[in-house]
Amino acid sequence: MSRQLYLQATPPEYPGVAFVNTFNRDAFTKKLDILAVKTSASKTGSILRAPEMRRAIMDLPRIRSVDVDPSDPQDNRLVLLRVSDKVELSPDALKYLETETKGLVPHTVTLGYDYWSADEIIRAVLPEHLRDGAPSGFAATGHIEYLPFKRLIGQIILDKNKKIKTVVNKLDSIDAQFRFFKMELIAGEPDFVVEHHETDCSFVFDFREVYWNSRLHTEHARLVDLFNHEDVIADVFAGVGPFAIPSAKKGCAVFANDLNPNSVKYLAQNVQSNNVSQLVKVSCEDGREFIRSVFRRSYDDPFPGSKGPLLSKTQQNLARRKKITPDSPSSELPPRRRVSHFVMNLPDSAITFLDAFRGVLASDEVDGLREAYDVMPMVHCHCFTRECEPDKAEADIRQRVEEKLGSKLTTEVSLHLVRSVAPNKEMYCISFRLPAEVALSSQ
Ligand SMILES: C[S@@+](CC[C@H](N)C(=O)[O-])C[C@H]1O[C@@H](n2cnc3c(N)ncnc32)[C@H](O)[C@@H]1O
Repeated sequence: MSRQLYLQATPPEYPGVAFVNTFNRDAFTKKLDILAVKTSASKTGSILRAPEMRRAIMDLPRIRSVDVDPSDPQDNRLVLLRVSDKVELSPDALKYLETETKGLVPHTVTLGYDYWSADEIIRAVLPEHLRDGAPSGFAATGHIEYLPFKRLIGQIILDKNKKIKTVVNKLDSIDAQFRFFKMELIAGEPDFVVEHHETDCSFVFDFREVYWNSRLHTEHARLVDLFNHEDVIADVFAGVGPFAIPSAKKGCAVFANDLNPNSVKYLAQNVQSNNVSQLVKVSCEDGREFIRSVFRRSYDDPFPGSKGPLLSKTQQNLARRKKITPDSPSSELPPRRRVSHFVMNLPDSAITFLDAFRGVLASDEVDGLREAYDVMPMVHCHCFTRECEPDKAEADIRQRVEEKLGSKLTTEVSLHLVRSVAPNKEMYCISFRLPAEVALSSQ
């Protein structure tokens, strides 16, 4: 029976049930019996361009529509068609073939396991009722009904992505305190240390020990964009550094803190490997302690003044060659004593840490600390809400923030929807200028 072949370009059904240890990749071989136009090598271009032939030429992705003619590889070519019977061809095409070519010959195109994408293979091995919504390429195999196939899916992802060495399944349980996901190896090598690149920075970490979420890259970039190179940033829940390190590359001075010793280990490593050691001070404290101490630390042991964004290695070499020196050595610039921004990305509970700001500048030891804060810091606090309507979400978040601060928010308050985490669960970032009465409050 003749047919339009592009409709058949799906892998064959896998015979029976597929298991990873008996997985037969040869079962994905598919032979397409088609017709091909025999022609001299010099005429292939004009056949491919001929309006009469346009609808008949083979257009399978990743398959070349011209092949060597095995009967005369030197001079002849085969232009592949997407029909198996000449009755499928238009009268114009038939006339063209008769006058301009050496006629039609049968030809077979063989598509194998390597041809199909990981998604196509995964769909072909799953039972029919699981095909819609099947996990694609890099998504987790999370849903419970896919779990019996997780090792097979892992193996297919490994086969199809030569650069991938390890495939894991993120388990449902999340570490309650440090927010990293428990995970199991489903294919490949048990190597959980990854190197991830985000906005010109590289982050090395062990997926089993620390929090990382690539879906937050726009949020990381959004906040870093708000900062000025003269700013001092206090990152209360810094993780492995996706806010801290790009901020420092911009020239900001950063206090980066996390309570998870493993996060701090990788954070310190990433600070070094991204060449920002002079601009980042790493600590491993509870967020509340950190908020209460960082005002004084920044005042007593300040970062030197900003020299502007850090130069890349290439820019440094260029500047050296052109004998350009920075306008002013940092020792001549006023030191940076005032924290300008707090970043608080622990959406589950960051709001509950806000009471730590009460009285941070109330101390009696008046030595200039309080005076340094002619402008209060901005606080960027991430949080979840179950309210999906923006007005209700704002009211809910504001109310919780004000309750913890013990003060109304009045100036420079804005709310940004970061992402929808689950049905009825939105992640927001509320930004506000810390009210002076909170920082100066006596209790
Ligand atoms: C949601 S992660 C955010 C990490 C990082 N800012 C990012 O965007 O990838 C929250 C971080 O807070 C840390 N953490 C949890 N409880 C903490 C606490 N009480 N004090 C300080 N850090 C804490 C966790 O270890 C984790 O690295």
